[in-house]
Amino acid sequence: MGNFIIINKNQFKQSADSVTFDIPSMGEKKGFLVWFEGKFKAYVNECRHMEVCLDWQPNDFFDEDKKFIICSTHGALYSPKTGVCISGPCKGQNLIKLNTLERNEDIMIFTDKEGCKKNG
Ligand code: FES
Repeated sequence: MGNFIIINKNQFKQSADSVTFDIPSMGEKKGFLVWFEGKFKAYVNECRHMEVCLDWQPNDFFDEDKKFIICSTHGALYSPKTGVCISGPCKGQNLIKLNTLERNEDIMIFTDKEGCKKNG
């Protein structure tokens, strides 16, 4: 089944909320799970412009309006639903997605190579 991380849904308090986690199988990289408009999506916490974390403070990923994931370095905006950069220096590129599976109160996040999708 590969490497996976389990996060309980009860950690999410409101839409546009997020929970971060380590990805041991990817070295020093970290990931984050967002809950946005009733859906859970997981991504590697790395901007597509440069290899830096997106959050400006730990676990603070959203812009002021809570509509987009924003990169704290140069302000690229990403869709929380798709991971596509819609504005900024990496416009059109995708955050690295991690496959997820909902199981009762938990979200399983797959963090091995097969669980990552660079595009789409
Ligand atoms: S590093 Fe994220 S927009 Fe430049």
